Amino acid sequence: GEVSMNGYEHYMLKEIHEQPDSLRNAMRGRLNDEDATAVFGGLNLTPQQLRGVERIILTGCGTSWHSALVGEYMIEEFARIPVCVEYASELRYRNPPIENNTLVFGITQSGETADTLAALNETKRKGHRTLALCNVVGSSIAQAADGGVYLHAGPEIGVASTKAYSSQCCVLAMLSLYFGRMRHMSFESGGRIIEELRRLPAAVEQALTCDSEVRRIASKYAEASNVLYLGRRYNFPTALEGALKLKEISYIHAEGYPAAEMKHGPIALVDKDTPSVFIMPRGTTYDKVMSNMEEVKARGGPVIAVASHEEAQIRRIADEVIMIPEVPEFLQPIVSAIPLQLLSYHIAVLRGCDVDKPRNLAKSVTVE
Ligand code: G6P
Repeated sequence: GEVSMNGYEHYMLKEIHEQPDSLRNAMRGRLNDEDATAVFGGLNLTPQQLRGVERIILTGCGTSWHSALVGEYMIEEFARIPVCVEYASELRYRNPPIENNTLVFGITQSGETADTLAALNETKRKGHRTLALCNVVGSSIAQAADGGVYLHAGPEIGVASTKAYSSQCCVLAMLSLYFGRMRHMSFESGGRIIEELRRLPAAVEQALTCDSEVRRIASKYAEASNVLYLGRRYNFPTALEGALKLKEISYIHAEGYPAAEMKHGPIALVDKDTPSVFIMPRGTTYDKVMSNMEEVKARGGPVIAVASHEEAQIRRIADEVIMIPEVPEFLQPIVSAIPLQLLSYHIAVLRGCDVDKPRNLAKSVTVE
């Protein structure tokens, strides 16, 4: 049946606000305190097979490809397993050499994306184990894979993915805990990650309170023709995702870039009409990103900072500051995505765009 809008003006806005709940659903029954690990019922692989994994390939399209990038950072940090992220449309035809003991994850909200299905089938045919990280139960990709993990985000109707993205990131965090605990991660570290995951829905709830501030900022920048999104480490995939959200629903050209890489090209785009969004909650590269932001400001570009701490220096450099709660770095992608989803939403509404059904786009792309 028809999914209700629950009083929201658009499905996308409703789905953005559902994220504290969809994240709780992604974690329900999957965190085990006794062993300080995650539990997954549907991987369909023996502990020996899982422990023997020497490489993980994460593949998908669009927003799901962005969560794959987040997953790469998480799995490498916590499980120390080498990860490759591949566009499914490239993986299916590129025929890369894949070593034994490689696990291939297809990441997909719909479970119907043709390229992701084909990439999984192609790697499976070559004898590799395939898993689906998927929202729609019983979908083609869920059936084609050897096993998998459901997101339990509930139906996502808005074409631009929001709650499925955060749930993908959350499941990938739990998977890195799971693989990490099969290797060298200590009981204490596992327990700490579980605690941090449990605090995540409340942090997302708090992040959502930036809505009216973001709407105000949106009205100042809704006329822009180009926007840059910049971040480093865990906030680099967020930059890509923020830019994609803006392109998808407001038809403004946007680019996501690693903040330090921008001096090798994109900084040439900076002028008084080209805003840059810096995703810079406090973390290992914080001071470096601050200098990157200063470089943009010095060239006359308007700056919007997404930050986790009130600080005179940010207020001095940035024209706008959006505050989000502090979370550990590996969870920043989930929390930082919230203001960027809202920013693109409000800009699209102000520009009179059809938020839930943007032109030229489909919710699931079942042709190649
Ligand atoms: C389409 C949608 C995107 C989505 C992508 C992958 O392009 O418009 O929002 O990220 O497909 O979809 P999937 O269902 O495989 O995650």
